[in-house]
Amino acid sequence: MSIQDEMKKRRTFAIISHPDAGKTTMTEKMLLFGNLIRSAGTVKGKKSGKFATSDWMEIEKQRGISVTSSVMNFSYEGYQVNILDTPGHEDFSEDTYRTLTAVDSVVMIIDGTKGIEAQTLKLFKVCKMRGIPIFTFINKMDREGREPLDLLEEIESTLDIETYPMTWPAGMGKRFLGVFDRHNDQFVKFTGNEREEYIPYSELGQHQELTEDITYQEAKDEMELVDEAGDGFDLEKVLRGDQTPVFFGSALAPFGVETFFNTFIKYAPEPAPRRSTEGIVSPESEEFSGFIFKIQANMNPQHRDRIAFVRICSGKFERGMNVTLSRTGKTIKLSQSQQFVASSRGTVEEGYAGDIIGIYDPNVYRIGDTILTGNQKYQYDELPQFPPELFKKVTAKNVMKSKQFKKGLEQLVQEGAIQLFKHYHFEDYIIGAVGELQYQVFEYRMKNEYNVEVELMPMGERIPRWIPSDQVDESMFDERNMLVLDREENPVVLFKNDFSLRWFKDKHKDIELVDLFEVNQYDQSFE
Ligand code: G4P
Repeated sequence: MSIQDEMKKRRTFAIISHPDAGKTTMTEKMLLFGNLIRSAGTVKGKKSGKFATSDWMEIEKQRGISVTSSVMNFSYEGYQVNILDTPGHEDFSEDTYRTLTAVDSVVMIIDGTKGIEAQTLKLFKVCKMRGIPIFTFINKMDREGREPLDLLEEIESTLDIETYPMTWPAGMGKRFLGVFDRHNDQFVKFTGNEREEYIPYSELGQHQELTEDITYQEAKDEMELVDEAGDGFDLEKVLRGDQTPVFFGSALAPFGVETFFNTFIKYAPEPAPRRSTEGIVSPESEEFSGFIFKIQANMNPQHRDRIAFVRICSGKFERGMNVTLSRTGKTIKLSQSQQFVASSRGTVEEGYAGDIIGIYDPNVYRIGDTILTGNQKYQYDELPQFPPELFKKVTAKNVMKSKQFKKGLEQLVQEGAIQLFKHYHFEDYIIGAVGELQYQVFEYRMKNEYNVEVELMPMGERIPRWIPSDQVDESMFDERNMLVLDREENPVVLFKNDFSLRWFKDKHKDIELVDLFEVNQYDQSFE
């Protein structure tokens, strides 16, 4: 099979959701489709401790985070599926955001009893900023939840994206009858067991027990309303990230998952072209290229080795091949490579655009690095910086260690493990992160790699806004709304809360405050 054919089969996506919406349950069902696992309950390494036996760094052991489940790949119906994990709960970190730079589409799972929740919103913003196509699955229809129309309304208004219900639910909770599969003109009946019953619209006449049910009739009326008033399905809009196809079901039952997955896999995009310093790189190009979106440090404490996660963007990867690291121009042989599946780390011999491989990192890679073959000389667009939300002041416990302290800080910042800020006047260091886990990793690595114990003093959640240097008037800020400098000495205000931010904006209308989520808008038009 040609490189182009291989590439076109790839479907590389991530699932985004708020903790407990059903991401693990859904992932598990997908892995069952791929015959990657035989029974449910295998993915839940967290609870069973299945993965905690191997050689991950200590902190990972404690938390039971497993790198093997960071990427899962399997074949399904002629497609090669790559699912990237977006760690949530306490594992939420900048890596979670960065993972979204390595996917071609996203599945957003919403708990139908709750609607849009905080973490979904954050991750959604990243997708929107990157123009990533989003497919929505509204979960837990086996429970009494919110009205479907109400949920669609919330998605449209909160997320500013058009919705198109691909399926429409008839009832919910105890009265859940199934879904109208609007796209395939059939009713998918909920039988209460794993077998879904598909009834083509043309045969519904023979199912009076269904069509005479008041819940069914109400749902049908509602759907007809949506048909008349709503937007039509528009694949181009979907691929631009302006419309999201919505499916209803239950990951646990499971119900509606297969209907969803089959449609998703068909419409989800293949690997897209990417922007580089030398113009657009086509995924069909014969020359290999890829970029590093995540580095997992200290997987084995004895060897201190690290694994760099590479998203392949073009050409073919072969184990043992030589690549050039764009940033330094050095040649590196990729002899140790791994691909990740749910249950084991296997050696990967080849890979194509869309695939994710783990390569051994002898401490030379950085997040955002490009690797290439042949005479190519370019770098992929820098990975965006994401706005941190948590801030802590950091000092070395032992002042005698200030040299190592600074060195460690510098290297970990460069690696993208944390973001560093400085007080506007003093030499006070402040560390910004998007999740608590980043601090724990930071503390651990400072101690183990740089031999420095650090003290972290929480400053709580803050809303960072960048402000042009020439507009800075120090009298406008205080400890609550603190003025700091980022790594490049750009002034940033750390607002205490949403209220202070709004109050400030109202009072100083002429001051331009910049939100990183907005400046990082990714232009997908490539024009
Ligand atoms: P997460 O990865 O997004 O955090 O969610 P996860 O799949 O772990 O699901 C969170 C809880 O919601 C689990 O229950 C799970 O069984 C339940 N759940 C997931 N999908 C559905 C669904 O479609 N319907 C219903 N009713 N529940 C669903 P738990 O009690 O917290 O965990 P467990 O002990 O059952 O594993």
